[in-house]
Amino acid sequence: MSHAAGPDSSITIPAILKMKRDQQKIAMVTCYDSAFAKLVNRSPIDIVLVGDSLGNVVMGYQNTIPVTIEDMIHYSKCVGRVIGRPLLVTDMPFMSYSDKNKAVHNAGRLIQEGLACAVKVEGGSEICDRVEAIVQNGIPVMGHLGLTPQSIHMLGGFKVQAKTEDARLKLLEDAKALERAGAFALVLEMIPTDLALEISKELKIPTIGIGAGAGCDGQVLVLHDLLGFDLSFNPKFLKRYANFETTVIEAISSYCVDVKSGQFPSDSQSFH
Ligand code: KIV
Repeated sequence: MSHAAGPDSSITIPAILKMKRDQQKIAMVTCYDSAFAKLVNRSPIDIVLVGDSLGNVVMGYQNTIPVTIEDMIHYSKCVGRVIGRPLLVTDMPFMSYSDKNKAVHNAGRLIQEGLACAVKVEGGSEICDRVEAIVQNGIPVMGHLGLTPQSIHMLGGFKVQAKTEDARLKLLEDAKALERAGAFALVLEMIPTDLALEISKELKIPTIGIGAGAGCDGQVLVLHDLLGFDLSFNPKFLKRYANFETTVIEAISSYCVDVKSGQFPSDSQSFH
């Protein structure tokens, strides 16, 4: 299996743009390691995101703020080494694109060392100079508007964004500004469905929603959420497709019982 860096990936940026023109929905999921990447690879998923949600999901932090560029390169590599057909996008973590030079340098590292095909950044008009600079260096950029977890301290919690008329207008303007700056797609997180639909109609680039309703051009979920790793995590936007929490605990518990009762290993699991 080839890694995803650039030409080896059969889903390209033009292919993603064409999906929007052809009104074909785009399916995106997060992934953080090679074991899951091998399985994700065997599904028809279009885009794999090494999200900085790995801070919460696999590193045990409360939010994405402590995640560093070295962390992102590490996990992106793990996925990039095995991912084949889907487009691999990796998040730029907090403060790694706080000015143009940093942004270009760190985006370059995610492509060269992290084996990503594109990077994702959070923010609107205020970061368009950095989006432009990264794109000018030949690196595709995905934007992210609405609930932007790297600004959690400013936003004051994980809640639906753009509820006032002013905030709606600002979000629409930000979306257009990101498109003009060269972004190839836009994640819309936790915003009203009608606003996400309006943005999706206004833009030529695809919108990928999470908690943004069915009017988006695609959808993204965190892999561990859709697999049901934590059944106590129940946001309104989540649909679970498996119950890993119960399956994993039951499997490990059965193994413990077998070890303690002497049922494992049996003769057939032993060498003679
Ligand atoms: O970090 C992440 O996983 C994300 C997705 C939820 C869009 O940004």
